[in-house]
Amino acid sequence: VDIAVDPLEGTTLCAKDMPGSIATMAMADGGTLLHAPDVYMDKIAIGPGYAKNVIDIDASPEENIKRLAKAKGVPVSAITALVLERPRHEALIAAIRSTGAALRLIPDGDVAGVIHTTDPAKSGIDIYLGIGGAPEGVLAAAALRCIGGQMQTRLILDTEEKRERAAKMGVTDPKMIYGIEDMAKGDCLFAATGVTDGALLSGVKFRGDVIETETIVMRSVTGTVRIIKGEHRQLEKFHLD
Ligand code: FBP
Repeated sequence: VDIAVDPLEGTTLCAKDMPGSIATMAMADGGTLLHAPDVYMDKIAIGPGYAKNVIDIDASPEENIKRLAKAKGVPVSAITALVLERPRHEALIAAIRSTGAALRLIPDGDVAGVIHTTDPAKSGIDIYLGIGGAPEGVLAAAALRCIGGQMQTRLILDTEEKRERAAKMGVTDPKMIYGIEDMAKGDCLFAATGVTDGALLSGVKFRGDVIETETIVMRSVTGTVRIIKGEHRQLEKFHLD
């Protein structure tokens, strides 16, 4: 199997006890997860239920938001976009605001950010746009592979060193646009456990001798989504000789 893992996605969120850090991994048939170099990746994602090709990473943010509003049958003002709050996104943020769409800025955590697009009724998020980590992009793609949605990405290989590093990892076309199946195909599982409380998952709770966790597990073959509440006990206290 291939395994993609981010044991702590949102390290700063965790360090500051802010919402949304998760421990996450994806597992798929061997050779079917994109072996992404640790570089930035441009990403755009929407949830399931739309006709194909609603989003286009090469179109402007304004165009993508207008197309999504049309596909959803709502005015642009009823669309909410999610973006990582970073100086590099200044132009993107201005472009989104110019459309009249709502904008939610997050400090970190774009794996959960992409997943939020799959349930706009709950999350309030319709579209994810912007640049985040490439390994995080593969994890998010694995989740969408299980629960549906559309996503396009492109590695940002803006130096010779990055292009060489990517080439060594098998990237033959540095400008390639990756769809979900280019990043995660075959039989694929995605799991995430909340570390701090967040909109997607509750965080780890220490309650006396019991540690509680909440985990989401998704499977591409069946589309099954399981929420697992765990109670973890300190073994030495419960397994007496
Ligand atoms: P880390 O847990 O590795 O800090 O990642 C958090 C994160 O916000 C990711 O979700 C996102 O893809 C990436 O950082 C964005 O990178 P940067 O913080 O350099 O803008």
